[in-house]
Amino acid sequence: MSQYSPLINVMIAAAQKAGRNLIRDFGEVEQLQVSRKGPGDFVTKADKKAEKIIFEELRKARPSYGFLMEENGSIPGNDTSNTWIVDPLDGTTNFLHGIPQFAVSIGLERDGDLFAGVIYEPITDQTYWAENGKGAYQNNRRLRVSARRDMSESLFSTGIPFIGQPAERHAQSQKEIGAVMDKCCGIRRFGAASLDLAWVAAGRYEGFWETGLQPWDMAAGIVMIREAGGFVSDSSGKRNMMKSGSIVAGNDSLHATLLSILQKSAK
Ligand code: IPD
Ligand code: CA
Ligand code: CA
Repeated sequence: MSQYSPLINVMIAAAQKAGRNLIRDFGEVEQLQVSRKGPGDFVTKADKKAEKIIFEELRKARPSYGFLMEENGSIPGNDTSNTWIVDPLDGTTNFLHGIPQFAVSIGLERDGDLFAGVIYEPITDQTYWAENGKGAYQNNRRLRVSARRDMSESLFSTGIPFIGQPAERHAQSQKEIGAVMDKCCGIRRFGAASLDLAWVAAGRYEGFWETGLQPWDMAAGIVMIREAGGFVSDSSGKRNMMKSGSIVAGNDSLHATLLSILQKSAK
């Protein structure tokens, strides 16, 4: 049985409070699918409301910490060692289309390193969390990356670029998917990077890769995979994920294989 630290308690409380709001709004979005106006504006409001809830909860609990948030950007705190990194609604396109695959993601950066993460999936009420040196968990169950070593038995997840992203990224993504697809038993694109990472930590996927991400998409998930015994790098094999926006994550044996396949596909 896991013991939540005060820090994790604070993070989980904030994520779940925002998540309860998102569930209410998701019910409304499902109705709006068939309206002519569509749910766009409503979802933007839901997203901002969730971020406000998280901001208020975290600020109340740790008044001096800074913030990096998707909607409101950077809000420095008096304590420059600690920064919350917040995605109030990861999987917005799913949410907008009434697809119940979305999450709240809260990471904590401490002294320049990612220190703790919580990813909360409101629809299934599942809480993924990890803290430096304490392990990764789904609710109270300890998480470990999968033990599969054989590419042919392995399942991967990725993010596919969409409208508005650079043409080179679209072309490269097609090459990468082409290179991975004939070596593995499947590739999934579920549309919420935080959950993709949590699912690598949970051993469901052997690996995940994507480029063009933002720090709030991956902060919590990176801690989770490390604490579950997996490996995370950027697309050049370095640890510069947060700045480069690229991430390659995998279990301890297939991270290197996946990275090498992706790098070869770029040549
Ligand atoms: C997006 C999701 C998606 C990924 C995109 C992200 P958002 O975040 O994580 O899976 O492919 O690159 O922007 O916009 O839903 O918070
Ligand atoms: Ca996101
Ligand atoms: Ca978001």
